[in-house]
Amino acid sequence: MERTYLMVKPDGVQRNLVGEIVSRFENKGFQLVGAKLLTVTKEMAETHYAEHKERPFFGELVDFITSGPVFAMVWEGENVINTARKMMGATNPADSDPGTIRGDYAAKLSMNVIHGSDSPESADREIGIFFKNEELISYEKTINPWV
Ligand code: PPS
Repeated sequence: MERTYLMVKPDGVQRNLVGEIVSRFENKGFQLVGAKLLTVTKEMAETHYAEHKERPFFGELVDFITSGPVFAMVWEGENVINTARKMMGATNPADSDPGTIRGDYAAKLSMNVIHGSDSPESADREIGIFFKNEELISYEKTINPWV
C-alpha cells in the first residue's frame, strides 16, 4: 500500500490546526500509520529540503521549519501521495482552491501550513528522515470496509 509523509508546519501547530488536518485525511479514508510532535533540527531540515538548497528562499525555509514544533505523520492508502497533494492545495496559498487545506487556512507562501511528499521516491526518503521503522504501525481495519 502506498505511503506518504505529511507534516503540519510550525504555523499549523501554533494555530491549533493539527486536529482539523488529521480529520481531513481520516475522513477521506486514509490510514494513519505513524505520527509525532517534534522540533526539526537544522540538520534534518537541510536534509529534508536538500533539493531546494540553491533556491533563494532556502535559508528562510530552514529557519521557519525549525522555528517551532511540527506534527509529522505517515499516511497510507491507494494513491495517497497524489490525493494528499490535491487535498493540500497549491503550494502558493494565493493559488490554492477553497476547500483545500491551504485554500482554507493559509495566506502566505512562506507559511503554508502543511508539507506533503510529491512522489514515491520523496515519500520513502522523507519518511526515513523523520521516522524509524518501528514507529510505523500497519494494521487491518476491522470495521468500515467501505473505504
Ligand atoms: S513544490 O510543492 O515543492 O513544487 O513547491 P516549490 O515551489 O518547489 O517549493 C518548495 C518548498 O519551498 C517552499 N517555498 C517557499 N518558502 C519560503 N519562501 C518562499 N518564497 C517559498 N517558495 C516556496 C514551499 O512551500 C515548499 O515547501 P513544502 O514544505 O514542500 O511545502
